[in-house]
Amino acid sequence: MPVNGVGVTAVAVAAARALESDRPDALVVDPWAAALVRASAVAVPFPERWPDDLDAVPAVEQSLLLGATYIGMRTRFIDDELRAGALRQIAILGSGLDTRAWRLDWPAGTRVFELDSPEVVTFLSGTMDAVAPAPTADRRVVAADVTAPWASAMVRSGFGPGEPTHWVLEGLLPYLSSPDQSALLDDVIDLSAPGSRAVIERAPALTDTPETRERLQTFALATGIPFDELLARTDPPDPARVLAAAGWTVAEVSVADLEHRYDRPLVADRSASTADQRGGFVTAVKG
Ligand SMILES: C[S@@+](CC[C@H](N)C(=O)[O-])C[C@H]1O[C@@H](n2cnc3c(N)ncnc32)[C@H](O)[C@@H]1O
Repeated sequence: MPVNGVGVTAVAVAAARALESDRPDALVVDPWAAALVRASAVAVPFPERWPDDLDAVPAVEQSLLLGATYIGMRTRFIDDELRAGALRQIAILGSGLDTRAWRLDWPAGTRVFELDSPEVVTFLSGTMDAVAPAPTADRRVVAADVTAPWASAMVRSGFGPGEPTHWVLEGLLPYLSSPDQSALLDDVIDLSAPGSRAVIERAPALTDTPETRERLQTFALATGIPFDELLARTDPPDPARVLAAAGWTVAEVSVADLEHRYDRPLVADRSASTADQRGGFVTAVKG
């Protein structure tokens, strides 16, 4: 089953996790990321090994390597949030090729719901069946589109809206229009029992200018990764505000906070989405 369209971005994230796993100072080790990239047959131009000298590699590759540096921190941050939350119901929306259902040491009885397009979830399940042992969580797959009603598909897969959920929105909001982002945040709020938590990567507010389009298209052409799908979003909702207005206790974590926490400066980042254009994270707890 080929992966194409926006699913290619999930392969790019897996390639970044593969590279992270190869770093001597890896924040995350994903033993299956490289196999997923290979099986996807998507030609993501990431090198498979971390280079000895970053300055010696071509500019586009350098941008991808530095983007991978960010993905390493993002992945580790969300892993840490999930461990700290220790909830037994996890819902990963736009889960892509996320391997947390296998990678993390989940408490017994934890159910991990992964929601993505049919093609992406089918590809992940089929490939992991071939290369990985059984997941360490009770993994439930939901083939759905978050811009259409998706709650009933979750419930059919065993999701319990009466139980606290840890929601993960990682690398998803940037692919949704502003109204779809707002609707999705409302859905998450409606489906959350008291004690629920969320970790959300914000969609940076890209201003719709010819320069922005040109930059994203150029990078997409150079890499084959459809960054130009990140159509400029004017006025995206601020998840911190939306969740706080719904009574959740909210914290904001910037990319600079991650750089400090993991001692990983992104100062040299010249990728299509540099640190200052990344939105950072919102974490929230429903009291
Ligand atoms: C950049 S990837 C991130 C994947 C994963 N969260 C990670 O960080 O590895 C974005 C994912 O969002 C999924 N996605 C985009 N729009 C979606 C939608 N409307 N409904 C469900 N999934 C969607 C894509 O298929 C893709 O797998």
